[in-house]
Amino acid sequence: MSLGVIGCGKMGGALVEGAVNAGIIEGKEVFLFSRREEAAQNLALKIKGEVLPSLEILLEKSDTVLLCTKPGDLPTLLSSLGRFENQPARFISVAAGLSLAHLEQAYGSGIPMIRAMPNTPSLIGQGAAAYCLNDHASATDAAEAQKILGAVGIAHQVPEKLLDAVTGLSGSGPAFIYVLIEAMADGGVKMGIPRNQALELATQTVLGSALMVQQSGMHPAELKDMVTSPGGTTIAGVHSLEQNGFRAAIQNAIETSARRSQELGSS
Ligand SMILES: NC(=O)c1ccc[n+]([C@@H]2O[C@H](COP(=O)([O-])OP(=O)(O)OC[C@H]3O[C@@H](n4cnc5c(N)ncnc54)[C@H](OP(=O)(O)O)[C@@H]3O)[C@@H](O)[C@H]2O)c1
Repeated sequence: MSLGVIGCGKMGGALVEGAVNAGIIEGKEVFLFSRREEAAQNLALKIKGEVLPSLEILLEKSDTVLLCTKPGDLPTLLSSLGRFENQPARFISVAAGLSLAHLEQAYGSGIPMIRAMPNTPSLIGQGAAAYCLNDHASATDAAEAQKILGAVGIAHQVPEKLLDAVTGLSGSGPAFIYVLIEAMADGGVKMGIPRNQALELATQTVLGSALMVQQSGMHPAELKDMVTSPGGTTIAGVHSLEQNGFRAAIQNAIETSARRSQELGSS
């Protein structure tokens, strides 16, 4: 397997570092290209990969090419890639909002194309990603995508019509959780806990609760019921959350983010 990465920013770096750290690929099989050579060089140092002087050589040497530029830069890049003689076996795009049809149109001819939506916890191997395939992609292409995205967390194949929803849920979700952690810490500070302790307690509470859901296999409602004793402190807090529309606020955030992804994809 050889992996080319175009765009060595946050997401390109996270995915390739994750893949190398997980041992699914060796640094010497990773080829890098970025607009600023320095970005590619920095990543190459970390993973012992090779920076290539041109896109043409990168396409020639790579089985799979990860497209990790910002969405606005990708159509022009793809149309320039389509003109080279040697092509990889498949492309994986992580650009938010750019549909498979859009990617294919920019590239200009049929090739296995995977549209993925990873998230930033991929940086620490705790990502949550989903991906979909175009009509040219086979089970082998899906397996490659699963291997690369799965190296930095969980990855699910979904129909393309769900990718905007995934963007709202797990793509944007980390920001919602950061706001939650910050708000919980503020609540602690409001009640007199020193800031650093409040932040640490809030962070660990979110982490521990997520792990409880994951490791117990229990429904979150069941876990919530277990910690809300009759007439106690926790049910009083839960009641306050309900009064303030907490659930609806979270659902609305995911819906709004998904709709924004749809808008970006159609503009
Ligand atoms: N970060 C996230 O939370 C997240 C989550 C899911 C999906 N994504 C997707 O991941 C993609 C990358 O996001 P990011 O946050 O990693 O952005 P980023 O840090 O800005 O990285 C993008 C990189 O691509 C390089 N680049 C731009 N045009 C190029 C070209 N024509 N050829 C080669 N390199 C080029 C940029 O170079 P310069 O340094 O010169 O700008 C930059 O190094 C986006 O499409 C985004 O939608 C990001």
